[in-house]
Formats: sequence, C-alpha cells, structure tokens
Amino acid sequence: MKRINCVFNLQIRCLFIAVCLFVCSSCLKIGETCSADGECDTGLRCETCAANGNTRSRCVRIQPLNPTSKVKGLPFNQYSWLTTHNAYALSGAKSATGVALLSPTNQEDSVTSQLNNGVRGLMLDMYDFQNDIWLCHSFNGQCYNYTSFQPAINVLKEIQVFLEANTSEIVTIFIEDYVTSSQGLTKVFNASGLSKYLFPLSGMPKNGSDWPTVDDMVQKNQRLVVFTSKSSKEASEGIAYQWNYVVENQYGNDGMVAGSCPSRAESSPMETLSKSLVLQNYFSTDPNQSNACADNSSPLISMMTTCYEASAKRWPNFIAVDFYQRSDGGGAPEAVDEANGHLTCGCDNIAYCKANATSGTCDVPPIAPPPPAAVGGGSTTPSSDVPSNAAYLDSRPVQLRWLFGAIFATTVFIWL
Ligand SMILES: *[C@@H]1O[C@H](CO)[C@@H](O)[C@H](O)[C@H]1NC(C)=O
Ligand SMILES: *[C@@H]1O[C@H](CO)[C@@H](O)[C@H](O)[C@H]1NC(C)=O
Ligand SMILES: *[C@@H]1O[C@H](CO)[C@@H](O)[C@H](O)[C@H]1NC(C)=O
Ligand SMILES: *[C@@H]1O[C@H](CO)[C@@H](O)[C@H](O)[C@H]1NC(C)=O
Ligand SMILES: *[C@@H]1O[C@H](CO)[C@@H](O)[C@H](O)[C@H]1NC(C)=O
Ligand SMILES: *[C@@H]1O[C@H](CO)[C@@H](O)[C@H](O)[C@H]1NC(C)=O
Repeated sequence: MKRINCVFNLQIRCLFIAVCLFVCSSCLKIGETCSADGECDTGLRCETCAANGNTRSRCVRIQPLNPTSKVKGLPFNQYSWLTTHNAYALSGAKSATGVALLSPTNQEDSVTSQLNNGVRGLMLDMYDFQNDIWLCHSFNGQCYNYTSFQPAINVLKEIQVFLEANTSEIVTIFIEDYVTSSQGLTKVFNASGLSKYLFPLSGMPKNGSDWPTVDDMVQKNQRLVVFTSKSSKEASEGIAYQWNYVVENQYGNDGMVAGSCPSRAESSPMETLSKSLVLQNYFSTDPNQSNACADNSSPLISMMTTCYEASAKRWPNFIAVDFYQRSDGGGAPEAVDEANGHLTCGCDNIAYCKANATSGTCDVPPIAPPPPAAVGGGSTTPSSDVPSNAAYLDSRPVQLRWLFGAIFATTVFIWL
C-alpha cells in the first residue's frame, strides 16, 4: 500500500513538472529567443537567419492570418494569398522513379502541410512523362528520372483532401504547363477528384472588373482557381490562360533589384488594369535555403511597396516565395498580412483591421511588444542583429518565464 502510494506520488510530481515546463515553454512569441520549435507559439518555429547576421535563434512566423478573418465577403481579387513557388520541389525528396534527384528544391514541407499553414497559391510545373503527368524540372525542355519529383496526381489529391475537409477555403494553382498530350490536364484533374471544385472560365473577368466574392465562390463550391501558361488550353480544355487574368513581375534575381519591379516577359505590364489579379514573385534564380530567410524578410516587404507603385497602386493578390517558412521574424506571412490589411480594411496590417468596421478604422497596438513588422524587418533598413534593445528586450521575458517556471516547479515538487 505504502509502495503504491509512493509510486503514485512520484507520477503526480512528474506530471506536474511536465505540465509546468510545457506551459512555461510553449508560449514564446515572435522574435523571442528559443531553442526548439516546440517552445514557440503555434504558427511559429525556431530559426536563425545567418544570411543577414541574425544568429540568435528566435521564433519566426510560418502562417499568415486568414485573409478573410476580419473583412469577409469581398471579391476574390481583394485578398492576398501566400503562394509557394515550385510547391512540389521539396528538399530531401527522392524522385518517385526511385533515383536520386539532381534538381534544385524550393520548399521544405509537403503541400498538405503548406495548405495547413495557410498557403493558398501553388505553383506547379507539369510535364508529360512516363505516360502520365508529372511534376518535374526540365533539362532542355525534357523530364528525366533525376529531375522528376512525382506524378502530379499525388499532389492534386492532397489538394482535393484539403478542399474536401475545409469547405470555405479557396486554393489557386498556377501551372507552368509543358503538357502536350490531348486533354492531359483535364484527365489528371478528373482523376484527382478536383474537377468538381473548378472555378469556371466563364466567371473570370477579362476586363479588369472584380472577381465574384469569396462567399459566392464558397457557396457555389467553385473553390479551385487554375491557371495555365499555355494559351491553347482555354479553347481545348477550358482552362484559364494565366496572362489573360494576372500580371506578374519578373521572377529570379532580376526581380530582386531593390527599387524596381519590372514585369515578367509573358505578362502584360504590371499596371495593366484590365487584368484584375496581381502576383508578386520574390525568389532568387538559384533557390537557396540559407539565403531565403534574408530574402523573405525586409527586402520582400520593400519590394511589395515597389511593386504596388508599379502595379497602378495595387497590392499583390499572390505573394510567391521559395522556402516560405524561412525568415528572420515575420517573413512572407507578414507580407501577406500587410497586403491583406491594405486590401481588406485600409490598414497597414490585417491584424489592425476591426471586424466589420469602415475602411481605415484601424486598431494599431501600442509600441511594446514590438509589432511584427519591426521584428520581421518591416522597416526599409536592412535588419541586422544588433545586440541592442530588440534582442535584449526579447530575451528577458523568456528568462523570467523560465525562472518563474522553475521556482514554481520546485515549490510544487517540495510541497508534494
Ligand atoms: C526511370 O524510372 C523508371 C521507373 O519509374 C524506370 O522504369 C526507367 O528504366 C528509368 N529510366 C532510366 C533511364 O533510368
Ligand atoms: C482544415 O480542416 C482540418 C480538418 O477538419 C482542420 O483541422 C483545419 O483546422 C482546417 N484548416 C483550415 C484552414 O480551416
Ligand atoms: C472529365 O470529367 C467530366 C465529368 O465527369 C467528363 O465529362 C469528361 O469527359 C472528363 N474528361 C476527360 C478528358 O476525361
Ligand atoms: C466586364 O465584363 C463583365 C463580364 O465578365 C461585364 O459584366 C462588365 O460589364 C464588364 N465591365 C466593363 C467595364 O466593361
Ligand atoms: C547558398 O548560399 C550560400 C551563401 O551564399 C552558399 O554558401 C551555399 O553554397 C549556397 N547553397 C546552394 C545550395 O547554392
Ligand atoms: C461581422 O459581420 C459578420 C457577418 O455579418 C458577423 O457574423 C460577425 O459576427 C460580425 N462581427 C462583429 C465583431 O461584429
């Protein structure tokens, strides 16, 4: 009896300590010093960004706020959606053909995980390969085993599962289309179960007017918008030719020169108002995991302002990046939140929008704790990790919390 009591007691003590440490450790905010992902709040992970000198591990954002969370029911083109460039090209992936991949990679988590983190635009390169449609990078326009990731249907099925489970979410796919087989795209969309969600070509405005509202798209279950880069597919398969509806800036290094936002060659000029959707690319020509955190920080947000001016004062509807989870703080999710603030409520960030208020009535939080923009590098000066206020102020509450947690745990242990 005594022995049982003792074991029981010990279990309770351990449980108490575990709960205590968990509670005290899983609540770090953006910018606070951390040593593991689990210590950060949900929607954050623990990262350094050596590429811009931020070597202190801090909690960084990997999820934007839901664009429709504050102001609902606007046209589709009045929201901004986080978009992953080459969403399927995952670091560490092996080709489904069984060989090692020689292709560069652009993201680190599965499309399912991307969707769960709030990614709503996916760029996919599709090719005819092995009597099927594959997601592939090419070498002289040709897919090889060592450049092909997997059959497209696998990823399309992931999207299908997500749309099925999340009945008010809208996803957009941008296909870099090399498929020449007859009805190739239609067949693979049919086979994936995605066809029933397709937003119809006939509903897409070609003259710069507003898209239907998100509520309308949800209510009609037309929650998948698909664009192809091949013009012939509009006539042959009813799939929207991207350049009739979207403008884009130059991708790659040429699109990352601060202060200019040139249009992509295939696109109408950025300021073309007859295209209702604006897409901002911001990723380097050679995708680089360790540099992406710097690119996805203040330079991304400054470029967003530059592209806003170049696009006849329109904020981007899609913000496309590599390694979307990497940044020194707010990253691409912060850029998307800022775009959604401007687009949906006339505030600098969707976080400042008041639900159902008239445009321009903003709830800007007081200075401390620093707003995401300051930590994420929202200012135009390149952020460096000055061991100054920011770092000191960020880390102090953590230490206090740990101290408090430790004292509490010890007290409980002794008391029990
Ligand atoms: C490519 O992979 C397929 C398996 O998917 C295999 O049948 C084929 O022989 C491979 N081709 C080459 C050139 O290795
Ligand atoms: C999507 O659905 C899953 C399963 O119901 C749920 O856990 C998740 O929170 C939903 N995500 C969104 C963005 O609604
Ligand atoms: C795709 O599915 C639709 C609806 O079931 C069907 O009418 C059409 O023939 C299919 N197209 C192809 C190419 O399989
Ligand atoms: C633009 O096209 C839509 C149909 O897509 C039409 O309802 C609208 O009147 C047109 N607007 C202008 C300004 O031409
Ligand atoms: C990424 O960039 C860093 C620093 O410029 C460089 O050392 C590294 O080799 C690059 N990695 C790749 C995969 O290109
Ligand atoms: C905003 O409006 C929506 C729809 O009319 C309503 O469901 C919601 O409760 C409102 N929110 C607030 C905070 O008033």
